[in-house]
Amino acid sequence: MRILVTGGAGFIGSAVIRHIITNTQDIVINLDKLTYAGNLESLLEVSDSDRYAFEQVDICDVTELQRVFSEHQPDAIMHLAAESHVDRSIDDPAEFIQTNIVGTYNLLEAARTYWNKLDSKRKAAFRFHHISTDEVYGDLPHPADGSVECLVMSDELKESVECSMFSGECENNVECLVVSDELEDKTLKTQHSTLNTVQPLNTVKAPLPLFTETTAYAPSSPYSASKASSDHLVRAWLRTYGFPTLITNCSNNYGPYHFPEKLIPLVILNALEGKPLPVYGKGDQIRDWLYVEDHARALYKVVTEGKVGETYNIGGHNEKTNLEVVQTICQILDDLFPIQHYKELITHVSDRPGHDRRYAIDASKIERALGWKPQETFESGIRKTVQWYLDNQEWCQRVQDGSYQRERLGVTE
Ligand SMILES: NC(=O)c1ccc[n+]([C@@H]2O[C@H](COP(=O)([O-])OP(=O)(O)OC[C@H]3O[C@@H](n4cnc5c(N)ncnc54)[C@H](O)[C@@H]3O)[C@@H](O)[C@H]2O)c1
Repeated sequence: MRILVTGGAGFIGSAVIRHIITNTQDIVINLDKLTYAGNLESLLEVSDSDRYAFEQVDICDVTELQRVFSEHQPDAIMHLAAESHVDRSIDDPAEFIQTNIVGTYNLLEAARTYWNKLDSKRKAAFRFHHISTDEVYGDLPHPADGSVECLVMSDELKESVECSMFSGECENNVECLVVSDELEDKTLKTQHSTLNTVQPLNTVKAPLPLFTETTAYAPSSPYSASKASSDHLVRAWLRTYGFPTLITNCSNNYGPYHFPEKLIPLVILNALEGKPLPVYGKGDQIRDWLYVEDHARALYKVVTEGKVGETYNIGGHNEKTNLEVVQTICQILDDLFPIQHYKELITHVSDRPGHDRRYAIDASKIERALGWKPQETFESGIRKTVQWYLDNQEWCQRVQDGSYQRERLGVTE
């Protein structure tokens, strides 16, 4: 199989390419513009392979896209190229609209034109896999917002209570009355005196909700809004043209070769240099962390075994507050590289505008349908990640001083 990977010089794209070249016999064509986030040094382990080719192309350049399709004849596309950093999208959204929306549109059109000309066998087997984020769903209730209790209903009570406002589903899909802290007072009990009867029978804490594949889109940042737009375009191309697309929405990734503007590599590298470890606001924002190599395995499963037209959520079952993440990194560094009191470097800074408070993924569909599960826990993945940054100071140094970019541009000092 010949797979065209867009954004293959980025953090996740490079993990996908390393995974495919190392573990399969497939051919990979890496199409990347090489923005500041693209780093071919993340592919050195595999770029000598005769099953790997690189094309420096902008997904906004239609003519170049057509040339690449015609020359490389891909059987599938994994589309990861994007502007991906939320803070940059807040400072300057233009590039996010251009690459994430217009670029995705150009890629869809170039791919559809190419696909239309394939013979019927190759046309039926072709796949366009769009890689997206859980940030398109907005944010979820946070534990600090107050706990939610479920009163499990008996059948006879179900008939006697007529207040849809309180009905919902709790874990195990048991139908229940959902009572938030503020509602769980005398007003409720006097209005619905029957509740007094059922309450002692069975009261359970309802789990906080998770993002599923049917959660409504409600993006908060220019980044997530641009990704949501591209998801909508991909779905429209499936519905309107019968173009064989699949979408995955994934939670926050971490792991080796992560550009040091993102939380985890930034904290590791700042800590090693004795610099402040910035934490937005109280640091109580919750993210569901997934080790990047687990994500790469999931993406390959989806492009090769997923069902056309489906969306799969991918997550790590690792809900952690940002502060917990930073403290864990400090503990691991205390253990692996004890040169200072890392926790003393934690510095709270003003919060990001519109900062989503909690993301968490229900990944049961991909587990059920494709048998994918993350192999790393947060504890094992974060330890591997810290160790990787300790062992790969040269990669980090060349990103931090910009030489990874200057050399490929032919700039000499
Ligand atoms: N990082 C995460 O935690 C995360 C989570 C879920 C989904 N995603 C999605 O996964 C994809 C990859 O994320 P990442 O973290 O690897 O991003 P990244 O910023 O590390 O890499 C993006 C890559 O795209 C390339 N690129 C940017 N604009 C381009 C253009 N116009 N034409 C061609 N190439 C271009 C860059 O050079 C870079 O190599 C993105 O679509 C992102 O939205 C990321």
